[in-house]
Amino acid sequence: MTTISSSPVSALLATSLDIISLHQQPNGAYAASPEFSAYRGYCWFRDGAFIADGASSAGEIESASAFFGWCAATIERYAGTIEMIVDAAAEGTPVATEHMLPARFTMDGHLGGDDWWDFQLDGYGTWLWAAVQHANRHDLDLTEWRRAAELTVDYLLSSWARPCYDWWEEHQEQVHVSTLGCVGAGLQAAIDSGLADGDRAVAASNVITEIRALIDERGISDGHLVKWLDSSDVDGSLAAIIAPMGFIPPDSALAISTIAALDDQLSFNGGVHRYLADVFYGGGQWPLLSCFLGLAKAAVGDGAGARALLEWAASTATSDGMLPEQVDRHLLFPEHRDEWITRWGTVATPLLWSHAMLLRLAAEMGEQ
Ligand code: BGC
Repeated sequence: MTTISSSPVSALLATSLDIISLHQQPNGAYAASPEFSAYRGYCWFRDGAFIADGASSAGEIESASAFFGWCAATIERYAGTIEMIVDAAAEGTPVATEHMLPARFTMDGHLGGDDWWDFQLDGYGTWLWAAVQHANRHDLDLTEWRRAAELTVDYLLSSWARPCYDWWEEHQEQVHVSTLGCVGAGLQAAIDSGLADGDRAVAASNVITEIRALIDERGISDGHLVKWLDSSDVDGSLAAIIAPMGFIPPDSALAISTIAALDDQLSFNGGVHRYLADVFYGGGQWPLLSCFLGLAKAAVGDGAGARALLEWAASTATSDGMLPEQVDRHLLFPEHRDEWITRWGTVATPLLWSHAMLLRLAAEMGEQ
């Protein structure tokens, strides 16, 4: 891939907004990566929620609101499925994973026909969290998303402890700490905003307490958060539950140790890997993860560290200002790169989530 080494951040911010706007449907759905073979035609709750958060932080109020409207319409379309899942869990006969809600929907908000690693819970917490952030940031009324938020809370309360695929759509057999954090952050946002009230808020609060206890008992090793329960490695996604999501308080010793472990183990010259055993496209460095680590550093007062990560992320832009999913400057397993190019083509570019995270970190650093 052609990259330029020092693209000015401010020019890239404008390009990022253009790219996000260009690839948002009138119904609010964001394409994850419009041209990439495996992602084309789909909108993810995870990517989309962070894209909306980035757009919202850059002042694109209507874009973010439209996305949350798409989320709400999609959730309400599958209300019957959610009620069936919730009832089955309450009766002690949880539905099989293939009947749980998917990570991604078609752009018109329907189930897709392609096989995917679909059962992922994090995006359902993340959209709740991001919608509430957006409403707070711009003083908006949340009423039109209430029904969908209640359904989402019920879904998460019924199923939060189930193993599922992680952010990287891998290891369905594990309970992933960043997934727990996304679920917890979403439930907390629903309580704080009043989207969950009465008995639902009490139940959500109890689950948050259980999530925190589980992380304390089985989600920490050597003082830092770990990739999945009872493991000892870190994962780049863990930065997000420190900041911007704030489920792990940035001023805690746990946050400080986790940031240090991410720095030591996954960051090479500012480019952050997903995790040390990553073979996807050879296991390169992800600009969106550099931005998440930058947000975590900004939250603990390390402005210089955050800026260096922002600049590294910007440096991955192609000559026409597009940010990729990952770059191949430092590959963990170079021998695995070509098999993915053969399977799916060159790395997803542009990846809207990468652009959004650049916007989000830049906004945090006061750069617009
Ligand atoms: C990543 C996911 C992402 C999806 C769409 C996958 O390769 O692992 O985190 O949601 O692409 O961008």
